[in-house]
Amino acid sequence: MFKIRSLVTALALASSVSVASAWETLPTEAPAPADNATTAAKVELGQMLYHDPRLSSTGTVSCSSCHNTMLGGEDNRPNSMGVNGQTGGRSAPTVWNAAFNAVQFWDGRAPSLEAQAAGPVTNPIEMGMKSWDDVVARLQSIEGYQKAFEQAFGKEAISKDTATKAIAAYERTLITPNSPYDKYVSGDKSALSAQQVRGMEKVAELGCTNCHSGPAFNGPGMFQKFPAIPNGYWEAQYHFSKDKGLAEVSKNQADEHLFKVPTLRNIALTAPYFHNGSVKTLDKAVTLMAKLQLGKDLTKEEVADIVAFLEGLTGEFPKQKMPVLPATPGSTFN
Ligand code: HEC
Ligand code: HEC
Repeated sequence: MFKIRSLVTALALASSVSVASAWETLPTEAPAPADNATTAAKVELGQMLYHDPRLSSTGTVSCSSCHNTMLGGEDNRPNSMGVNGQTGGRSAPTVWNAAFNAVQFWDGRAPSLEAQAAGPVTNPIEMGMKSWDDVVARLQSIEGYQKAFEQAFGKEAISKDTATKAIAAYERTLITPNSPYDKYVSGDKSALSAQQVRGMEKVAELGCTNCHSGPAFNGPGMFQKFPAIPNGYWEAQYHFSKDKGLAEVSKNQADEHLFKVPTLRNIALTAPYFHNGSVKTLDKAVTLMAKLQLGKDLTKEEVADIVAFLEGLTGEFPKQKMPVLPATPGSTFN
């Protein structure tokens, strides 16, 4: 597992070398950890748990409420809404291709999808369950889940460990390959328009891909200061610096305002933008990135070209069959 510290060291190395961008296509399969091989039974169970609002205290919020698999894998809200209408300070990132993140959350505090999935269920403003013991008891009371866990994990009991493993296995299937960009890089030169190709070249020339590198454009495992270049004018409008990023978790001053480099895959579908969801449109987000990370003022045409290129990163979404959830005996809720 990656340690936050060693990642930051890796970042320091990465940012000192200016890498010419190598354009990479998105793999069609995500690597799974040794102790959680992806199996059909786990994926099926994980899909049920992911879409089941009974994993929340009020029975109203599922993972899919905030990371909607019928949309771009999030909720298009600046701040997500959890149980009892509560909202937090951060915007929900997409779950599509999250399997290619080396670390999870804006501040990278979870080292894996398995570790990540444990958090929201007992987070008081997200799904609000008092404890994982309560979640396990509730799942155990549902006969259909007993069967599904047995199919996925054999004799291993229903637990936080098995539930989060199943959810993570399902998330590893949420991959969107074959975007126009992938087709272009694979040799189909008609897959991107002339404007999109101009945008692609601009993104490399400006250095966006020094941070947004790799097949998912997420510089896997890279943390960067945001905003890198202080700007009072934009700060007054968007309050990016209110959130201390990695330092909120590490309490280390050197980590202030370090954020994980987010993926640009399907970025046209996931407005509003940035960790606080404060920017409504993609052209504004691109303009701000150039200014705050690279110190560059882009022309209207350059912004339009880059946005056109980013639209070419919208991939093919695998057909999702909605799961039929096992019935509750009586009421799960008092
Ligand atoms: C109330 C809304 C809400 C619910 C419910 C919710 N999430 Fe999230 N999710 C968020 C927000 C907001 C973040 C970012 C929080 C942060 O970075 O501190 C996030 C982050 C994530 C990430 C990290 C993605 C990345 O790019 O770093 C994954 C993966 C994820 N959630 C999966 C899940 C799963 C699985 C569930 C159900 C067990 C779930 N979420 C439930 C709002 C929600
Ligand atoms: C120095 C590293 C760095 C460079 C260079 C950089 N970015 Fe970013 N980018 C980031 C980080 C870090 C974030 C997350 C900021 C946040 O919200 O906390 C981000 C966020 C974004 C977002 C919003 C993502 C989302 O899900 O809301 C977009 C869009 C984006 N970058 C595009 C670009 C473009 C286009 C360029 C070039 C003009 C660029 N970036 C240059 C590091 C960088």
